[in-house]
Amino acid sequence: MSSHTTGMSPHDLEIWLNHFEYHAEHPRCIPHELADVLEPAERRLIAGSIATFQLGEQSEGSTLRRAAERFARARHMPALVRIIELFIREEQRHAALLRSFMEDHRIPLKHSHWTDQAFRRLRRLAGLELCMCVLITAELIGNVYYRVLESVTGCRRLKVLCRTLVAEELVHVAFESQLLLALRAARPAWARTAIRSTHRAFFIATASVVCLTHRSLLRHAGHGARNFLRLCLAQYDFYLEPVSIPTLAYRVPQTSAPCDRISQRSSAASVK
Ligand SMILES: [Fe+2]
Ligand SMILES: [Fe+2]
Repeated sequence: MSSHTTGMSPHDLEIWLNHFEYHAEHPRCIPHELADVLEPAERRLIAGSIATFQLGEQSEGSTLRRAAERFARARHMPALVRIIELFIREEQRHAALLRSFMEDHRIPLKHSHWTDQAFRRLRRLAGLELCMCVLITAELIGNVYYRVLESVTGCRRLKVLCRTLVAEELVHVAFESQLLLALRAARPAWARTAIRSTHRAFFIATASVVCLTHRSLLRHAGHGARNFLRLCLAQYDFYLEPVSIPTLAYRVPQTSAPCDRISQRSSAASVK
């Protein structure tokens, strides 16, 4: 199978590679002059929660790197290996930015958490597609979480840090979803349906676990379980269940009178 048949063309890969190369050379910075005051009550509220997400961002990426190498070799997509390498470095930078903030505010780091271990074990199970499913699940939920975290703090540095993470994670999920949808499109319809339902169920289960384990923070931000799940699922649907817009088939009947043709053309233009 070539990169064309997976729906991710060499040109697509080149665009992604350019993006990741550029951001590796020009990483987004958190300006030093930002106010960096974290009130004691805020610190107590976010400490355990931010530590779990910091742990999730931190990975050597060896499983993902190996899966990408195997996948790229079989499909003649050498650029993919470099993209994944740069992607892993960006995730490590997220972990470093969060760690630096936590250390400056004497928030203890976590070295293990059962949710993080479950995610790592799942990623080891199979190839690149499963790795991407697990990763995109964490990142889509992470994006909702970082927005919630931003909303509960008055600390300027933490707010900008959350926005920076979201900006980069949005690009990650765009890349992962394009790759995942391309891989799924190459499968028979029954397999696509089975994969989509399994992934959606896994996503809902993961978002529910996040909801439960970070409930104090979410509740403080005014998010009940149902609302948080709704926000997460909206992200999931946007990236992984894109709505296909039917092409407008507009043909002017040969027998139409001139005035009918003008009114048909104007109504077509109004929906463009
Ligand atoms: Fe990240
Ligand atoms: Fe990411």
